Amino acid sequence: MEHPRKSLWTWFSLALTLVFAAFYLNVANAALIKKSAADEATGKRCVACHTELTPGINAEWKKSAHFGAKVDCYDCHRAKEGEPDAFKHNRAWIRIIVSPQNCAVCHEKEVAQQQRSHHAKAGLILASLDNLMGEVIGGPAAVNGGCRQCHGANVEMGDNGKPTALTWPNTGIGRLNPDGSRGSCSACHARHRFSAAQARGPDNCGKCHVGPDHPQKEVYEESKHGILYKAFEKEMNLESKRWVVGKDYTAAPTCATCHMSATREQAVTHDVGERISWTLRPPISSKINLIRLENGDEFDEPDGKALPKIGDEMKGSKVKSILTWDQRRDKMKDVCSACHTSRQVDGHYKQFDDVVDLYNDKFAKPLAAAMSELVKSGYITAAPFDEAIEWTWWEIWHHEGRRARHGASMSGPDYTWWNGIYVVAQNTYFKWIPQMREAVRRKDGNEKFADALLEKYFKPIDGHDWYFNGLSKEAIEKVRKGYEERYGKGSLK
Ligand code: HEC
Ligand code: HEC
Ligand code: HEC
Ligand code: HEC
Ligand code: HEC
Ligand code: HEC
Ligand code: HEC
Ligand code: HEC
Repeated sequence: MEHPRKSLWTWFSLALTLVFAAFYLNVANAALIKKSAADEATGKRCVACHTELTPGINAEWKKSAHFGAKVDCYDCHRAKEGEPDAFKHNRAWIRIIVSPQNCAVCHEKEVAQQQRSHHAKAGLILASLDNLMGEVIGGPAAVNGGCRQCHGANVEMGDNGKPTALTWPNTGIGRLNPDGSRGSCSACHARHRFSAAQARGPDNCGKCHVGPDHPQKEVYEESKHGILYKAFEKEMNLESKRWVVGKDYTAAPTCATCHMSATREQAVTHDVGERISWTLRPPISSKINLIRLENGDEFDEPDGKALPKIGDEMKGSKVKSILTWDQRRDKMKDVCSACHTSRQVDGHYKQFDDVVDLYNDKFAKPLAAAMSELVKSGYITAAPFDEAIEWTWWEIWHHEGRRARHGASMSGPDYTWWNGIYVVAQNTYFKWIPQMREAVRRKDGNEKFADALLEKYFKPIDGHDWYFNGLSKEAIEKVRKGYEERYGKGSLK
């Protein structure tokens, strides 16, 4: 009497599956069903006319998940008469700018995460040193075609409801949209495919995370992880709907894997800062705690500053929750744990933390303190870029100092050393110090001031001992011998 029972059970579970499937399809279709017959007809008109007009747009849309889900041109581009970016187009009110707020109609969770993240705030850079440099020392056209294409800026509307040529096209990550929302989803999900697979690959992030001041793309490519990604890209299962590291792929992690994608414990997040514990961008790095507010926004507080309490009033809202720097780090370690055990991961963090501490303590802190003393004593002006020494300090922290920190964070050894600390050291000893002496000499010739500055800020740090007291004879002798063994007598001149 085993068999009938088994088949009954089979029928029962099949029926149950059908009920759930019907329920699920209903939910999934809810957004589509709400479409009126009139809206559906309007959508069909867009498609019909644009198939000839813009075959590229239509063909890509047809390959997208949206096409399968019956999300058409009008579902995204629809607008209401009177909105700043609305215009009448073949009998329908539409907009060109499809902002995160428009995507939120169907993707509320992703948009809420993206809106509170640093990405959404990347357009707010007007008050930065970088911007001053771009606008004044470069020029506005370069800021527009450079900075703003990565960071985003205000999209201004002409009086015809269309964006001005000066401010659009733009898919900057923190673009300021006419409806008040921030960012651009097509910064990562290029239109009109809007593909998750495309966004998972490292090239996607590499549009912006590249170059002398934040070479994450290059660091990744030289890391073991990037090498493995390239070797086994076909095994990465990028097109899979579910993409959980350790379950759906194991060959290598991409940028998205570590900073956004799902693990066995965590869901996908569009809040890219959730899993980082340091900020490596400023002149001096600090560990950062994440304060989340009831109004859905969040911000970083450097570690060391007293943490607020849940419920405290802050920035026009109340503190809802706090993610401390070590909790953020645990979230990242959870990613690594799909492929490594804790010894490898903890070792990585030890080596990374040590490089950041070295950069901070040996170079950044004394240089920053000395620079502000030079300004206070009137040896250099308070204006940031009118003296050579200010460019030297800028490049030490903003270029090579960041490269060292970024290299160490993601296992790119060339960036940690040759493109990083090596250049920091060279420019500290053989550019910044001579330029500092020169600035003092030029002003009043007070060599004692220059000596005292070095005594005060550099001499107490062990790592600078060689500069003040010379390299030890023993050390030089050891190296000379090493060279001779390898390359023959007299090889080290
Ligand atoms: C009868 C043909 C036709 C229909 C129907 C139509 N369009 Fe267009 N659309 C055009 C033409 C022509 C242009 C202008 C192309 C150009 O300037 O290169 C255009 C331009 C656009 C633009 C860019 C506007 C601009 O000024 O840059 C968008 C966005 C757009 N259409 C979306 C839609 C949507 C959404 C629908 C459906 C509500 C739709 N179109 C229906 C013909 C059509
Ligand atoms: C999932 C939402 C979505 C769907 C569906 C969609 N679009 Fe778009 N479309 C966008 C976004 C986002 C942009 C970029 C505008 C911006 O910068 O915000 C855009 C830009 C455009 C532009 C102007 C940019 C260009 O490359 O010329 C046109 C024209 C356009 N869409 C037409 C269409 C047509 C026609 C369809 C249907 C076949 C369609 N769109 C379907 C979201 C969508
Ligand atoms: C009218 C509802 C609607 C709007 C508006 C909409 N989407 Fe979607 N989107 C969907 C549906 C439905 C799916 C398919 C979900 C599925 O397959 O489970 C989807 C899937 C996606 C995916 C996953 C694609 C993949 O490769 O699996 C991305 C990415 C996406 N949308 C981005 C956007 C962006 C960005 C916007 C705004 C520019 C947008 N969507 C606007 C309904 C919408
Ligand atoms: C290639 C894309 C790109 C260009 C061009 C670019 N940036 Fe950035 N910028 C970035 C990225 C990516 C970061 C974040 C780097 C990181 O986190 O390591 C960043 C960081 C910054 C920061 C630090 C933000 C913070 O929260 O600490 C400022 C300020 C800034 N950029 C301003 C500018 C200005 C002004 C220009 C032009 C003069 C410019 N950037 C050009 C991509 C770019
Ligand atoms: C920094 C790049 C980036 C930006 C910007 C971005 N996305 Fe994504 N998005 C991704 C990645 C990567 C995935 C794939 C995550 C995974 O499944 O591993 C994804 C997946 C998705 C999915 C599929 C569901 C899921 O959770 O996997 C949707 C829907 C989506 N994004 C919507 C949006 C919307 C809406 C915006 C704008 C508010 C947006 N995305 C902006 C990178 C981005
Ligand atoms: C193996 C995991 C992993 C991969 C792959 C990875 N990252 Fe990271 N990333 C990290 C870790 C770990 C840190 C440092 C986290 C911390 O501060 O604790 C980091 C830090 C960062 C930061 C913060 C830098 C700053 O200035 O504060 C950015 C931006 C970043 N990664 C972007 C990327 C990009 C873009 C890629 C792909 C080209 C990438 N990451 C690939 C693990 C990864
Ligand atoms: C269109 C440009 C652009 C793209 C594409 C982009 N980013 Fe960014 N990203 C930025 C800028 C600019 C910042 C700095 C924002 C700020 O601090 O103002 C940033 C910051 C970050 C940070 C630091 C967040 C924090 O809280 O400090 C991480 C991590 C990061 N990006 C990861 C990624 C990953 C992973 C991808 C690809 C899936 C990606 N980004 C794609 C421009 C971009
Ligand atoms: C999808 C699997 C996967 C994930 C996730 C992953 N790694 Fe790896 N990682 C590897 C593989 C495979 C290697 C290559 C080991 C070798 O050298 O033989 C590697 C190598 C490394 C190395 C050695 C680098 C070198 O040059 O020898 C370090 C350090 C490392 N990973 C740290 C991390 C950290 C930290 C994380 C999380 C932030 C992480 N990995 C996430 C698969 C992964």
